[in-house]
Amino acid sequence: MKDFKRILVTAALPYANGPVHIGHMAGVYIPADIYVRYQRAQKRDIKFVCGSDEHGVPITIRAMKEGVSPQQIVDKYHAIIKESFAQMGILFDIYSRTSNKVHHETAATFFKKMYDDDLFEEKETEQYYDEKAKTFLADRYITGTCPICGNPNAYGDQCERCGTSLSPEQLINPKSTLSDAVPVKKKTKHWYFPLQNYEAWLKEWILEGHTEWKNNVYGQCKSWLDNGLQSRAMTRDSNWGVKVPLPGAEGKVLYVWFDAPIGYISATKELTEKWEDYWCKKDLPTEQAGTRLIHFIGKDNIVFHCIIFPAMLRAHGNFVLPDNVPANEFLNIEGEKVSTSRNWAVWVHEYVKDFPGCEDVLRYMLCANMPETKDNDFTWKDFQERNNSELVAIFGNFVNRTFVLMHKLCGGKVPKLHEDILDNTDKALIEEIKNAKGKIEKAIEEFHFRDALFEVIDLARKGNKYLQEKEPWKKASEPVAGSPESGANQQLIDNCLHLCLQLTANLAILINPFLPNTAKKMQHLMKVVDKMMDWENAGKLKLLSVGYSLRPPELLFRKIEDEEIKAQVEKLRANALKAQEKTNTMEENKSGAGSQESEPQTSNLKPQIVYDDFAKLELKAGTITACEKVEKADKLLKLEVDLGTEKRTIVSGIAQHYKPEEITGKQVIVVVNLAPRKMRGIESQGMILTAEDKNGKLYLLKPENTVEPGSTVS
Ligand code: MF3
Ligand code: ZN
Repeated sequence: MKDFKRILVTAALPYANGPVHIGHMAGVYIPADIYVRYQRAQKRDIKFVCGSDEHGVPITIRAMKEGVSPQQIVDKYHAIIKESFAQMGILFDIYSRTSNKVHHETAATFFKKMYDDDLFEEKETEQYYDEKAKTFLADRYITGTCPICGNPNAYGDQCERCGTSLSPEQLINPKSTLSDAVPVKKKTKHWYFPLQNYEAWLKEWILEGHTEWKNNVYGQCKSWLDNGLQSRAMTRDSNWGVKVPLPGAEGKVLYVWFDAPIGYISATKELTEKWEDYWCKKDLPTEQAGTRLIHFIGKDNIVFHCIIFPAMLRAHGNFVLPDNVPANEFLNIEGEKVSTSRNWAVWVHEYVKDFPGCEDVLRYMLCANMPETKDNDFTWKDFQERNNSELVAIFGNFVNRTFVLMHKLCGGKVPKLHEDILDNTDKALIEEIKNAKGKIEKAIEEFHFRDALFEVIDLARKGNKYLQEKEPWKKASEPVAGSPESGANQQLIDNCLHLCLQLTANLAILINPFLPNTAKKMQHLMKVVDKMMDWENAGKLKLLSVGYSLRPPELLFRKIEDEEIKAQVEKLRANALKAQEKTNTMEENKSGAGSQESEPQTSNLKPQIVYDDFAKLELKAGTITACEKVEKADKLLKLEVDLGTEKRTIVSGIAQHYKPEEITGKQVIVVVNLAPRKMRGIESQGMILTAEDKNGKLYLLKPENTVEPGSTVS
């Protein structure tokens, strides 16, 4: 590795449209913070910058949904996110935000320089436009019915129910979310960044120059580069964002992925007048020798940080490039992907409320399970186990035993070391203490944070083993064979506890980047100054001086009980259920059933379809053989429908129109090839057809005469 004068660490700027969850933490902020705390302890010149990403479409959509301004949304979440980071001990040198003036100026100037250097292509294309709201529509602003699963609230870029990527053209009955108008196509001009012009350079820089990057990162870059790069629009039609600094560009802003990474530069500017020392190439012998720039991100950010932003920096000129981009994969929760819309997540601001004083436990858990090379799973059971059997039973236990014994057998003071009587067990422990530092720093420097943490725990485990072998508590009462003096035993006790205390001091230094609160507590117990915590002191054996009196023992960790874990699992499921109900009601209201609007809306006719569209539906007649209410859902009935060759479970929103006993035995028309969908934990395997009268009452559709179950409907 080259020798760098300084290090600049960035962590992905989180979108200020929601709080942060533990997936964000494990993927980005915990590893970044460990790395930075370690480098600070190494006394290196390092800065750690981050901030909120406050532009982009999801923020404007959220604002619209909540009926407030985008500024109100970002103000709210910026504060929540910033607080969550502080509570988890993520110690940025600055946590800024992209709605700041400095950022707007920096990003606009960056764009203008590229424009003046003629680095953009100007192109006119057709985009969707809302004539009522008089604005262009990003794909996300267009909703309609998903052609795949029938979800009436699919977005123009994706259906969140079935996960299919869509384009607005595919939506049935597309509507602008701003005004309900049917979007029309209209010409608009944008500035494109021709990434293909940088392809050759990127190939050389990454594929040849950065073979040391993590496999997942290198692999993604390679596949992007092998597939060939294309021009990308760097501006958008919107009123929320950094205004395009060109005459005649009203209503246009910089693309959020153009402005956000520049946020790293703006944040550094706000932090220090010497920001150029960190960002700008100086007259140094090699291209990179000034600053080592490292971007901590999640895997969904790789292309932006490894390809687009470096190409921007290169095109603009005079900026350093990232030396490494240690992206992590994703953390799943209890076996399922995190989803904010389904509220399947563990939110940091809730964790710190539910487990006060246990911030380090979460840091530990997220580091131990960090998705470094593949997606990983977080389970509450595992959380409890790691706490109880590793933090409490190994690390905490070692420190506690050492302190209890030292107070009992050595008068609360650091005992003497009698070098002449050190045995092999003592010497082996001394070797372990000396070796740990090198192993841990190598792992951290290579971004192998889990390995590094396990080395620290392993050292504590060795401490326990040592105590177990030495049994100093027994020596206090044992007579010494062949020796008239009782002093000989005390010397053995002294050696044992002297070494255990020096090991404790080492553990404090080594655990500090990972569990800073725990390290602080240990520092307090040992009454040592911050200076002792410098990384260079790790591996040393004279950290605590003989005769120094130490504080009485205090537990570092507490046990986590079964009930606490049960409560968390229940909370997770309850939150997800609530989120699901909310979407269901929204869909029900929109699709008419139970809707407040009673006026018939003739203008709501769906666009014409061809026969082939209709033929995609598989309709059959069936007989309801059983029916019951769905618990705690006043609108839903669970039906069992006989379709001749099979029976299906169907959940239907007709509970306010029919009693279960009324419809058992009746025939119905079933859409049988609709993708199954879970409602209230029940998988609904189809849909029954109803007609609605002007009062909103629903009637089942049925064949005029009873037919064989399974008969085709066409
Ligand atoms: N807001 C983005 C996300 O959460 C990350 C932006 S990183 C930056 O995925 F580089 F653009 F700032
Ligand atoms: Zn769908």
